[in-house]
Amino acid sequence: MSDSFDVIVIGAGPGGYVCAIRAAQLGMKVACVEKRATLGGTCLNVGCIPSKALLQSSEHFEEALHKLADHGVGVGQVTLDLARMQARKGEVVSANVKGVEFLFKKNKVTWLKGEGRIDAPGRLMVDGTEYAAKHIIIATGSESIPLPGVAVDEKRIVTSTGGLELESVPKHLVVIGGGYIGLELGSVWRRLGAEVTVVEFLDRLVPAMDTEVGKAFERILLKQGVKLRLKTKVMGAKADATGVDITLAPAAGGAEETLRADVLLVAIGRRPHIAGLGLDSAGVALDERGRIAVDAHFATNVPGIWAIGDCIAGPMLAHKAEEEGVALAETLAGQHGHVNYGVIPGVVYTWPEVASVGETEEQLKARGVAYKVGKFPFMANGRARAMGDTDGFVKLLSDKGTDRLLGAHIIGPDAGTLIAELALAMEFGASAEDVARTCHAHPSLNEAVKEAALAVDGRALHI
Ligand code: FAD
Ligand code: NAI
Repeated sequence: MSDSFDVIVIGAGPGGYVCAIRAAQLGMKVACVEKRATLGGTCLNVGCIPSKALLQSSEHFEEALHKLADHGVGVGQVTLDLARMQARKGEVVSANVKGVEFLFKKNKVTWLKGEGRIDAPGRLMVDGTEYAAKHIIIATGSESIPLPGVAVDEKRIVTSTGGLELESVPKHLVVIGGGYIGLELGSVWRRLGAEVTVVEFLDRLVPAMDTEVGKAFERILLKQGVKLRLKTKVMGAKADATGVDITLAPAAGGAEETLRADVLLVAIGRRPHIAGLGLDSAGVALDERGRIAVDAHFATNVPGIWAIGDCIAGPMLAHKAEEEGVALAETLAGQHGHVNYGVIPGVVYTWPEVASVGETEEQLKARGVAYKVGKFPFMANGRARAMGDTDGFVKLLSDKGTDRLLGAHIIGPDAGTLIAELALAMEFGASAEDVARTCHAHPSLNEAVKEAALAVDGRALHI
């Protein structure tokens, strides 16, 4: 036995590394096992951070090409240096992953480099060395779901990982899956000059989102030039030296057709990354969808083994994983860790951004809850007009009887930032009236939030 810890976390993504830091802050002796060469998990290495770096850079490119002239700013001939753009993305990732390494040192978290496998409760192997821990926390994240008949090579047929690394702009990018990854990475490559076709099995994009927002999103993407093939399934794909032939068919069945693409991005969701962890021999149970089954305190069925983040149920989001990491560390320290799953925001970082928190109109209807709706368009917001970003609206849902906010859905400029105000309001149990009576700075995009709150009571001022 090499060493013994209070807590060993397997996986240094936002769930695992945050849990490790919080447990160390609370006085525990902590190690974190990570097999990747750098810390930060999917999020910092091949997920949130590199995708946002490319979204930012490609947005600047599009602004320079199509938007700045309207503001009276001439920039001459706009050129794309994709190698520099990719190098900058690498620098952003590198600064972030080094930041986590610094935080581990600062908090005295030991990084055990290698692949972790659970031997038994309290015993863990890392590349041939055994360690002991009172608590083992599984935070091994997720991986792309493969599509039968579509063999990923990360060059012609890519997951998000290859889709973030392309060395040239594809002439035609076909994306399978109209969800978070498909629409974010589809936006990046469209802005940089690719023709983009999104193939989605369902009749709508980002299915979990409020339908009205989803429909508005669809119209805006079409206006931007993204081609959408809804209600369509992919039967197979074959890559050759110059591109990929993709066979499509209507979701309901019917005649097949072939699409030719330079690159095919598969983005049909993610699944828990748990192979090789030794869950079978340790006796850790999975749920009906192959995720690690945990109780309300993140305990698996095996005492001393816990799990958080993408490998358990719930939205596969970095901030959800982080909240769980903190809550679990606090529980292990004898405190009362808790995650409010009713108030986890979700943001698609396209432009405009799409953000939501709480329940959708469809969910409220399904639950039989009587609700009120307040809506306000960015077209009527002074700041949005000054920015030249008037697409979209704020939509608030509150309980018909109590006026308590139940859901907020925004499509528009900086929606991902605007949603934070509503998440905070909902965390405090605020009513739409509370938001409506809060003084909002002028001229700000947040005034659209206030106006939507006023609209819940039929008294918006600027429309
Ligand atoms: P992960 O971040 O997946 O980390 C798990 C870590 O465990 C990995 O580093 C892995 O190497 C390691 N590991 C696995 N098995 C072992 C083992 N046996 N031994 C040692 N180490 C192991 N979420 C957002 O909230 N906002 C976004 O903008 C966003 N953008 C995204 C963009 C893309 C392209 C992708 C793919 C995802 C994005 N996500 C985003 C989702 C987000 O990345 C995940 O929800 C988040 O990373 C989950 O954190 P985690 O700690 O559970 O797991
Ligand atoms: P997703 O679940 O967001 O979207 C997958 C889409 O593919 C759905 O619309 C689904 O209906 C469709 N689909 C499934 N099977 C299909 C098939 N055979 N053919 C055609 N369409 C099919 O999954 P995605 O985009 O892969 O992202 C995975 C997860 O990563 C997200 O759910 C999210 O949790 C996280 N993520 C979060 C981001 C953010 O917070 N901004 C950004 C990127 C990823």
